[in-house]
Amino acid sequence: MTDHDPHPDRAPGPADASLESAVRALGSARRATLALADADDAELTAQHSPLMSPLVWDLAHVGQQEEQWLLLAADPGREPVFPAAVACLYDAFEHPRATRVLLPLLDPAASRRALAEVRGRVLDALEERERARPGAAAGAARMVAQHEQQHDETMLATHALRAGAPLLTASPTPPGRPVPADAVLVPAGPFPLGADPALEPWALDNEKPQHEVHVPAFRIGRVPVTNAEWAGFVTAGGYDDPRLWTAVGWAHRCAQGLRAPLTWRPDGAGWFTERRFGAVRALDPAEPVQHVDFHEAQAYARWAGARLPTEVEWEKACAWDPVAGRRRRWPWGEEPPTAERANLGGTALGPAQVGAYPAGASAHGAEQMIGDVWEWTSSGFEPWPGFSPMLYDAYSAPFFGGDHRVLRGGSWATAAQAVRPSFRNWDHPVRRQVFTGVRLAWDA
Ligand code: AVJ
Ligand code: FE
Repeated sequence: MTDHDPHPDRAPGPADASLESAVRALGSARRATLALADADDAELTAQHSPLMSPLVWDLAHVGQQEEQWLLLAADPGREPVFPAAVACLYDAFEHPRATRVLLPLLDPAASRRALAEVRGRVLDALEERERARPGAAAGAARMVAQHEQQHDETMLATHALRAGAPLLTASPTPPGRPVPADAVLVPAGPFPLGADPALEPWALDNEKPQHEVHVPAFRIGRVPVTNAEWAGFVTAGGYDDPRLWTAVGWAHRCAQGLRAPLTWRPDGAGWFTERRFGAVRALDPAEPVQHVDFHEAQAYARWAGARLPTEVEWEKACAWDPVAGRRRRWPWGEEPPTAERANLGGTALGPAQVGAYPAGASAHGAEQMIGDVWEWTSSGFEPWPGFSPMLYDAYSAPFFGGDHRVLRGGSWATAAQAVRPSFRNWDHPVRRQVFTGVRLAWDA
């Protein structure tokens, strides 16, 4: 059982800028991290997939980054918990995931000790810095908490791909309900794209600055594409028809022998089973499909007579209230996520069926935009005009202009405090170990 705490800030109203609430965010991230690393040393140090780090790398990396941004950035002369020769093992740019298992990493016990030592020092230092410069320490702590929560989702992806018996237990999600497999209209008009600093003080650098954009009318899927719909694409020969794929996508499909989402296996009776957290299970036809890459998503969309939304369209469908003429903080309104509004926080170990969250619908009527599965968009990852990097200055900037596509909305594995309508995730178009799904779009 993971100890993710999806809904710690229940009170509506302005965001809580206190240092205490930032420290609570660090605490809830840490409980999740430690729960995800609650396994024996062999499990933690094994390479479960070439796409993933050993769990013990993520475990120590979050502490090394916390020391970097909350202690060394302000005071580079201090004696570190992670000396430079150790810290460099946890540099994601230096070491690709597939090779991290070969490094002389801290063992699990030493990693946990280092994490606790850094956290103790951080709590002392934050109090002092908050007294000297109110707001600055709390903001930096919120950034570090989100970084740790992103790695918690990465650790869940590692657990999901593990072959051994499951180490985690799922908690239930609300049942789905019949929803029309239709689209909702988002009328043309301007809208403020990006995070409003007054509403989202802990938005990351790539979500800012907010700026007005004009978006032509479009339609977007009411809910994400389901397993049943994706199975229709497979049985219709979607993976064998080059006309549905881009040239790059088809070359990738052929080189990798793609025939179905990453975790699907034919069951011999014309249907599929799904491997998830070490267990093989029947596909749930009503759940959003997950573990598809951008090329597959594009081919599916073409087969369905649709396209992927741009990330700007996605954000407008999620957050814009056309009647009130303003953005909502969440698709459903101003109140924080709850278990009735969105599947977040990592405890479900999978998406909820479509229709499970009528109370989470956006002003346009789109459901499950936050949580369940990350949604591929057609947009490359680029800075908004006027971008300026945050304290962790290599978080976004090195990835702009590269071979990355933007993913929106968070997944069931995302912490509530690590996602919002303006949040931008990105990955290579061939990646499908992330909890990625699809929502279709059409020109109006
Ligand atoms: C935002 C998910 C693309 O994991 O590659 C973690 C987040 N950056 N540590 C990633 C991140 C540095 C990043 N994504
Ligand atoms: Fe990181």
